[in-house]
Amino acid sequence: MLILGIDTSCDDTAASVVEDGAKIISNIVSSQDEVHKKYGGIVPELASRRHIEMILPVVDEALKKAGITFKDISAISVCKGPGLIGSLLVGVCFAKSLSFVHNIPLVAVNHLEGHVFSSFLNGVNPEFPFLALIVSGGHTSLYRVDGFGAYKELGRTRDDAAGEAYDKVAKLLGLGYPGGPIIDHLAQEGTPDAIDFPRAYLPGTSDFSFSGLKTAVKIEVEKIGRLEAEKRLLTSQPLRFSTPAVLNDIAASFQSAVIDVLIGKTVAAAKEQRLNSIALSGGVSANKSLREKITEHAPKEGIKVFLPPLYLCTDNAAMIAAAGFYHFKTGQLADFTLNPEAYLHL
Ligand code: KG4
Ligand code: ZN
Repeated sequence: MLILGIDTSCDDTAASVVEDGAKIISNIVSSQDEVHKKYGGIVPELASRRHIEMILPVVDEALKKAGITFKDISAISVCKGPGLIGSLLVGVCFAKSLSFVHNIPLVAVNHLEGHVFSSFLNGVNPEFPFLALIVSGGHTSLYRVDGFGAYKELGRTRDDAAGEAYDKVAKLLGLGYPGGPIIDHLAQEGTPDAIDFPRAYLPGTSDFSFSGLKTAVKIEVEKIGRLEAEKRLLTSQPLRFSTPAVLNDIAASFQSAVIDVLIGKTVAAAKEQRLNSIALSGGVSANKSLREKITEHAPKEGIKVFLPPLYLCTDNAAMIAAAGFYHFKTGQLADFTLNPEAYLHL
């Protein structure tokens, strides 16, 4: 059974064809990074406009790559939220139109449920029950997953999402957007304990907080800037603000603080819930050091780790098609009254 997935929740226009909720036949993602780069973050109005331009060619390409036509599709699965409302509207309206014109059943999927289902596209699935850590630009949440449709939120960020902290710190350092991959790369050459940034463990909860860390980086950067300016005055040397080595150390120390908290809290939640599998998803789960450290640390606690391949960590429509397959199989269909929702819990 082939499902066409569509995701336009944020700044990527994505369409994918997935067979039986598990096998990717085609997976097209049109990134808008170039559009938003110069603003250091996503500009919602520009995102919606680009989705309108790209949705038709992206869906077309997904069908072409799969070598199929609409006649071969059993259902269209679209992301209904959470996300940017203008962006979501494009995908939902387009999916409803396709469903109407081609008379194909429609299913609506929560973006977060999609991220959880990215772990089911890798050939080796986590068995229920498992712990899901969704860590992206919009979310940092822990869920107990007891089965399809059975999700219990254990904790979430109280302020910034981890990816948002990466993006804001990158902007502060003048590094560009999206910040996660850039900081990840710079951190590989830095010393993780060069600067002792704070770690908010919020004991007794499975919640997260990253805004204090972001502020600590800002204070540190200002301090380094002042010291370098003073040195410049004393020596008349043309010292440049934040030499590459300093940048590497800030990136590595910031990243180390994020990862320590993510891994510490995720493993603690798994132990508390007596769950022996953890499935990571979302853009930040593409982080090199996070992947290495959790793969090394969790098994020592008797916990198996499931990591999606890098191209399924960030937003994609294969995960929406995979989750949509289960909605379709259990008869949970959407109709033409479907509307996107910017704020939606799982
Ligand atoms: O899942 P995603 O594509 O979109 C949301 O649903 O938010 O995640 C995007 C986020 C951005 O904040 C980006 O900076 C972050 O994921 N990200 C990373 C890495 N790759 C992407 N963060 C840390 N390390 C990475 N390698
Ligand atoms: Zn996402």
